[in-house]
Amino acid sequence: MFKKYCAVLLITTVFGIAQVYADRTRAAIASAHPLATAAGFEVLDKGGNVFDAAVAVSATLAVVEPSGSGLGGGGYWLLHREQDGFETMIDGREKAPLAAHQTMFLDKAGKVIPGLSLDGALAAAIPGLPAALVHLSEKYGRLPLAESLQPAIRAAQSGFAIGERHRKLLKFRAELIKKHPQTARIFLTDGNIPEAYSILRQKDLAHTLRQLADSGRDGFYRGEVADKLVAGVNKAGGIWTKQDLASYQIVEREPVTGNYLGIKITSAAPSSSGGIVLIEALNILSGYDLTQADEPTRKHLIVEAMRRAYHDRTLYLGDSDFIDMPVKRLLNEDYAAGLRSSLRLDKALPSGMLSGEIQPQPEGVNTSHFSIIDEQGNRVAATLSINFPFGAGLVAPGTGVLLNDHMDDFASLPGAMNGYGLVGGIANAIAPGKRMLSSMTPTFLDDGHHVAVLGTPGGSRIISMVLLAALDFAKGHEPDSWVQVPRFHHQFMPDVIEYEQGALTADEQTRLAAMGHQLKVARYHYGNMQAVQWNKTTGQLTAASDRRGEGRAVVGR
Ligand code: DON
Repeated sequence: MFKKYCAVLLITTVFGIAQVYADRTRAAIASAHPLATAAGFEVLDKGGNVFDAAVAVSATLAVVEPSGSGLGGGGYWLLHREQDGFETMIDGREKAPLAAHQTMFLDKAGKVIPGLSLDGALAAAIPGLPAALVHLSEKYGRLPLAESLQPAIRAAQSGFAIGERHRKLLKFRAELIKKHPQTARIFLTDGNIPEAYSILRQKDLAHTLRQLADSGRDGFYRGEVADKLVAGVNKAGGIWTKQDLASYQIVEREPVTGNYLGIKITSAAPSSSGGIVLIEALNILSGYDLTQADEPTRKHLIVEAMRRAYHDRTLYLGDSDFIDMPVKRLLNEDYAAGLRSSLRLDKALPSGMLSGEIQPQPEGVNTSHFSIIDEQGNRVAATLSINFPFGAGLVAPGTGVLLNDHMDDFASLPGAMNGYGLVGGIANAIAPGKRMLSSMTPTFLDDGHHVAVLGTPGGSRIISMVLLAALDFAKGHEPDSWVQVPRFHHQFMPDVIEYEQGALTADEQTRLAAMGHQLKVARYHYGNMQAVQWNKTTGQLTAASDRRGEGRAVVGR
């Protein structure tokens, strides 16, 4: 035994570096923060697989990008195992507390109370991210959860330098944060936005992460942390109970799939609308040769496809555990052909002319995405969120956990717009224990030669961004191109094309306006797409991080 040990030691000493290097899997990781990307590689380095790396990236983003996602939020993890082609989606979306009810954000006159579903304790739904990480690690990972959480615990304990993006988003939510001293103490310096590159340490969050590492889901959903979460939320006017936390469960769901010109699309199933809306829009577009159309017509067709697919989102989609949805119909190619029959090449169809009424209810920029693929083709696309920047602005004392404001993703009232201007009806009405409809769209594309893994934050605009990137993939372009595509967006209501400065030329604007489109330039460039690609033939890996953000894309071992 000892001899064998010595021999192994000798071999690893003499050939050590080269040997270890050759044994490690090459992988591509793109995430919204350099430290999160590094965390993924650190865990691969320890012998972890892409699923362990996904745990590490998710947990590290929760620490280093607190504006976007975190233990107090939720998300979707789309997984693919190459060996047997197994695919699944972990639905770690938050759930409405059991005491939530349909009219909880309305005043006595039945009007929406502005801000109540976005700011503070009532806006916070029961988090799903910690349960999802435990599940991902235990069921699919190779390493113990505690190992995969190490980089996040370190970043929380020792701190990291905050960037400009963090400061900008903090400014956006500063007034809200000042109302919650526990949050202000962590993120502000004497009530002010901290200097760029100052160090943010989150000791309480490190403690909570350690509880998770030591005790698995009970470390968050029962015991000390759970007690503090319930106490903190309720002290601030919330309605959580210990039962809400103890009974939270993630769900594994079959991803939705489609085919666009020979490209297999695998994407998020409900409770996200992302995959269905994406595939429906692509099905509509598959009836046109976009390569032959002139640019204004091409953009018009894409907008009209978005309009119709987002319209169906509004009418039909919500949490599949609560409502029946015509998913098969929405994904059906003949159904898309029917939608094309109302589509004219030279004229916009006003959204009000689309058939179907929003079902009334019976009486009574911020998120994160990362993509990982290894040289065997195992992959994860994950979009995580606490909704608006810094979520509800509320940290439960002693936990370091910033709570989400995802109750706003429900339709508080039929026809009333949420924070992203989305409208909805009964399908997405609030109910106890229900998941609110999401637009998050973690996606795989496979044309037989290349596999793409991609996604982005951006609220309702997530789906249109992934759509534009998928069309760019279909042109044979590389990840760097997909993430840089100039963006335009239509979500049925409001009936307007919103576009990034520079995304439409003056001529395109004139032509689109002449077809009857309303146009509005977005106030800022939006999205933060993270994408990786595997070339099945050459084995080459590529990765790209949106230049609109401060992320990092790396190919390495
Ligand atoms: O789940 C959703 O659709 C939204 N809450 C995502 C929010 C988001 O992407 C914000 N990012 N800018």
